[in-house]
Amino acid sequence: MGPRDARIYVAGHTGLIGSAVVRRLERGGSPALLTRSRSELDLRDAGRVTEFFQENRPEYVVLAAGRVGGIVDNQTYPADFLEENLAIQFNVLKAARATDVKRLICFGSSCMYPRECAQPMAEDLLLSGKPEPTSLPYAISKMAGTYLCLAYNKQERENRFIPVIPNSAYGPHDNFDPRSGHVLSALMARFHEAKLRHAESITLWGSGSPRREFIHADDIADACAHLLACDSTRFDLPLNIGVGEDVSIRELAELLSDVVGYEGRIEWDSTKPDGAPRKLLDSARMRSLGWQPTITLREGLSLTYRWYLGNLGSERAGVGGA
Ligand SMILES: NC(=O)c1ccc[n+]([C@@H]2O[C@H](COP(=O)([O-])OP(=O)(O)OC[C@H]3O[C@@H](n4cnc5c(N)ncnc54)[C@H](OP(=O)(O)O)[C@@H]3O)[C@@H](O)[C@H]2O)c1
Repeated sequence: MGPRDARIYVAGHTGLIGSAVVRRLERGGSPALLTRSRSELDLRDAGRVTEFFQENRPEYVVLAAGRVGGIVDNQTYPADFLEENLAIQFNVLKAARATDVKRLICFGSSCMYPRECAQPMAEDLLLSGKPEPTSLPYAISKMAGTYLCLAYNKQERENRFIPVIPNSAYGPHDNFDPRSGHVLSALMARFHEAKLRHAESITLWGSGSPRREFIHADDIADACAHLLACDSTRFDLPLNIGVGEDVSIRELAELLSDVVGYEGRIEWDSTKPDGAPRKLLDSARMRSLGWQPTITLREGLSLTYRWYLGNLGSERAGVGGA
């Protein structure tokens, strides 16, 4: 029986990546998706997670729940990022192992790679140097989940746990809050707000020179569907999931101002930190499994901006300066 006919639990279905996974699996004809809101099942609660797995016996799991945020949030709440992600991953992975889940996808992050990593970053470069300090607690929590998956696979001589490392994701249901959101969605909201105010200029953090790789959440979801369905692959390293191209933050800002229709100047406050200079993933291993991304950055930004406009006033999109 393939995953199409199976019981699949998507944890974090209200989030950016989880909601995309739900859309993708439903489109692929999966009839029996299990989802629970945080108020129904707080994944930090080990007892409730164990009960949920014993009662519902999911066969496949996509663990897209976690504490996620931008630089400011990471620096303000380092303990919460570490504690919550460790708890969520440990509780879910342990319950999945105990109930013989056939396959589980667990999300790591490109922040796990060394700050000065050779580019593009291949999976065997993990732990070859120190990650960027501004997101270190988050990176350590994601590293723990990733290596717990690999340890289960090794100890049990199986390949049920698939740790993946997508690069910076964006799309519908992202967090567009300028303080707690990721760079792309936070910038989109700021450009939108500046357009409404007819602002002459907008000042962005840093020099604009760091380069980042952005992937639409629907492409990540497609990679997940691909991995749940493919059989007999060895998972003794995580799998990078990227588009294979990066842009500077300056180029991203120009593209965003164009998509949003902001006509003022863009200024840079280079007294603010830049973060790692470059973060491009080497996704050759994932591509060798027969997957490739399909959404270009411009197309993805337009789709995302359309979603944002249609959802202003919701918890995730915010009020957008209206
Ligand atoms: N976004 C990226 O660029 C990116 C890149 C690489 C890896 N990742 C990883 O991918 C995963 C998903 O990221 P995302 O961007 O989709 O995050 P997101 O949009 O913030 O969504 C997180 C999801 O987790 C749920 N959640 C958080 N804490 C929970 C708890 N204690 N119990 C139950 N549910 C909880 C949230 O529920 P609520 O709706 O109730 O908050 C939400 O559904 C994370 O593990 C993240 O580390 C993300």
